Amino acid sequence: MSGKSATLIVDNKSFEFPVLDGSTGPEVIDISKLYAQTGMFTYDPGFTSTASCQSTITYIDGDEGILRYRGYPIDQVAEGGDFIECCYLLLYGELPTRAQYEEFENRVTRHTMVHEQMSRFFTGFRRDAHPMSIMVASVGAMAAFYHDSTDINDPVAREIASVRMIAKVPTLAAMAYKYHIGQPFIYPKNDLDYASNFLHMCFAVPCEEYKVNPVFARALDRIFTLHADHEQNASTSTVRLAGSSGANPFACIAAGIACLWGPAHGGANEAALKMLEEIGTPDRIPEFVERAKDKNDPFRLMGFGHRVYKNYDPRAKIMQQTSREVLGELGIKDPLLEVAVELEKVALHDEYFVERKLYPNIDFYSGITLRAMGFPTSMFTVLFSVARTVGWIAQWKEMIEDPEQRIGRPRQLYRGEVERSYTSLDKR
Ligand code: SDX
Repeated sequence: MSGKSATLIVDNKSFEFPVLDGSTGPEVIDISKLYAQTGMFTYDPGFTSTASCQSTITYIDGDEGILRYRGYPIDQVAEGGDFIECCYLLLYGELPTRAQYEEFENRVTRHTMVHEQMSRFFTGFRRDAHPMSIMVASVGAMAAFYHDSTDINDPVAREIASVRMIAKVPTLAAMAYKYHIGQPFIYPKNDLDYASNFLHMCFAVPCEEYKVNPVFARALDRIFTLHADHEQNASTSTVRLAGSSGANPFACIAAGIACLWGPAHGGANEAALKMLEEIGTPDRIPEFVERAKDKNDPFRLMGFGHRVYKNYDPRAKIMQQTSREVLGELGIKDPLLEVAVELEKVALHDEYFVERKLYPNIDFYSGITLRAMGFPTSMFTVLFSVARTVGWIAQWKEMIEDPEQRIGRPRQLYRGEVERSYTSLDKR
């Protein structure tokens, strides 16, 4: 509590509400008793001014372009450690000691195989099914194969389900990719690190040895860390809302994947690359910038703008640097990177974008990097879901363990018909 309160005056009656303060960031007005005291709801479509929960996991300052996992700045976590360490930090709140790291990595590694029967599950899909449709279905179906870890009230079951998802979602993602391209599934290898294992499951074939490129593995590992968590974004809020009903963890994460798929959210990396391909060359940038500004044109600059960041997305800077590293390793100059850098420059000097504080977000450069590694655009959001699984799980666990937790059930401003009498069909 901040000791402060907020006063609301309606029809000359005043109501007091406590102001709560966090360890940093905006204070909140606790309106949980507003309806009981005033008979009124608040109205906040898109939740632009609404804190849905208390959390200790991730902090974002949109104006300053700050992102911290458990207090550690994202650039330090991405540069200093690896994704397994990031998973441990998000799940348990502290950086692991070497012994804790090795024990956790060993637990994840030993859960990477999926139930053999799941491979038959895939054959029900058309080969050209979008891999995200397969991810939504297969992660949800984990509840049918791992029913022994669905009791959300059992902390041991919660821990097993958490590790199973962190370990098996990459395997399912690689299977979705292999199924899509008509190649045989490649089993996980326990002697590979997380990112290398994923690259191997995606790009190895049974007929020859596949050597993981260490530059790609390091870049992918960093991409996973950058995408791991992001406070109460749309898909995380979906996971929390699904979890608040007591749904099993696999169903909740599947709901998060479904929400992430949207082009306004995690689908933006696929949409951003398609946009860069459509622009094609720097001389066409002005035409597309004008379209993005035209209210009558639904076109938006994909990978630009953010609900929270009104400054540069700190992840975008690291993503741009990573794309240069990967392209440098390949010795290629991707013309789309030139288009992206030029588009960013033009937009950041255009009044429309400056006025609305629209900057590149994480999705603006990620597609260039992933395409250079050999992933098709249809896999970009799948990779985002692989990385975000740990964030969704950490947030889900925090919600389940929150003593204040109740089923999420927003209200509405009703603007439909008031009561009227039913007329039988013969009288209509
Ligand atoms: C992610 O929430 C998270 O944390 C998400 C994420 C995470 O890690 O979980 O960071 C991942 O989803 C990143 C965002 C990826 N999406 C995109 O890149 C899609 C393009 N961006 C836009 O759709 C938009 O910027 C949103 C959805 C990201 C944010 O939308 P808001 O906050 O609802 O902002 P808005 O739509 O109200 O836009 C404000 C103004 C509007 O103009 P006016 O009506 O004021 O004249 O800015 C304009 C918008 O038209 N605008 C854009 C624009 N984004 C906003 N105009 C052109 N191009 C854009 N990209």
